[in-house]
Amino acid sequence: MKPIQVGLLGIGTVGSGVFNVLSRNQEEIRRRAGRGIEIACVADLDTARARAIVGENARVVGDTREVIANPEIDIVVELIGGYGIAKQLVLEAIAAGKHVVTANKALLAVHGTEIFKAAAEKGVVVAYEAAVAGGIPIIKALREGLAANQIQWVAGIINGTTNFILSEMRDKGLDFDVVLKEAQALGYAEADPTFDIEGVDAAHKATIMSAIAFGIPVQFDKAYVEGITKLSAVDIRYAEQLGYRIKLLGIAKRRQGDATKRTPDGVELRVHPALVPAKRLIANVEGAMNAVVVHGDAVGTTLYYGKGAGSEPTASAVIADLVDITRLIEADPAHRVPPLAFQSHTLREAGQELP
Ligand code: HSE
Repeated sequence: MKPIQVGLLGIGTVGSGVFNVLSRNQEEIRRRAGRGIEIACVADLDTARARAIVGENARVVGDTREVIANPEIDIVVELIGGYGIAKQLVLEAIAAGKHVVTANKALLAVHGTEIFKAAAEKGVVVAYEAAVAGGIPIIKALREGLAANQIQWVAGIINGTTNFILSEMRDKGLDFDVVLKEAQALGYAEADPTFDIEGVDAAHKATIMSAIAFGIPVQFDKAYVEGITKLSAVDIRYAEQLGYRIKLLGIAKRRQGDATKRTPDGVELRVHPALVPAKRLIANVEGAMNAVVVHGDAVGTTLYYGKGAGSEPTASAVIADLVDITRLIEADPAHRVPPLAFQSHTLREAGQELP
């Protein structure tokens, strides 16, 4: 049977990882998905760079709409990033009846409700494992592995760039600016690194996790966001002397209401530097690594650790979504009704605000 045909929008750090891992692990992926998965077409402004990556193995075009309009393409992978053109292209792909895989946390945190609604109306899937914590399968853990639980809280180091900066400043006594440049060169940082250092990227990811964990709409605008730019080497040293490490944490927590004060139940959503006791596992997460701790009423506390950024770790998550969607297409060739796991609870609870 003809492999599932994938169209890539953007082939930078993550896109090249997707291409390389799909080629290298073709057989395993075909076996697990029940059908081959092939990148048929790549759209990138830099067509020369795209051709250098894919060679003769995929068609390269300069116009993203050629991918979306191509009737052969089953799944569109959006790796452009940002809220602008990416939003338009994702909505166009959905309208064209394509399933969409995206690593774009900014887009989903801000426009997720609109995008999931459009996908549900069209009967297609928008999958986004790569949007949070890179290679760690935290979306699947929250949505599937912990489906039996009332999640009490989720807390994590979900921005590799800032964790790398804090680690290098502490271990090597390096200056903030020097380490930031290193993180950019290693491909960890966002195109606009202020998103990393001001906590915005972590807040995007925490927003998405809170929506899944608590069944609330994605509401980035309700998050408290504070980055690491006000921290100095001396803060890190003092914390160390007191037995703590400073970590930028993204936290989403169920908040009990107080009937006497007439405050309703709600959810806290915040990103800020936190003092974490040095003996805690999460305090020892170094470099660009990510870790997410989830507490559920049945399972207790669980910890997920791994690479939160970079080419192949993020590609691993993108391809996991491609495999899931391929299984879905194989199970229901008409693929009009996404299974519950893919549907956004934000739709079922539309209108419910983050209190
Ligand atoms: N800039 C992000 C980070 C990339 O540093 O974690 C992965 O989302």
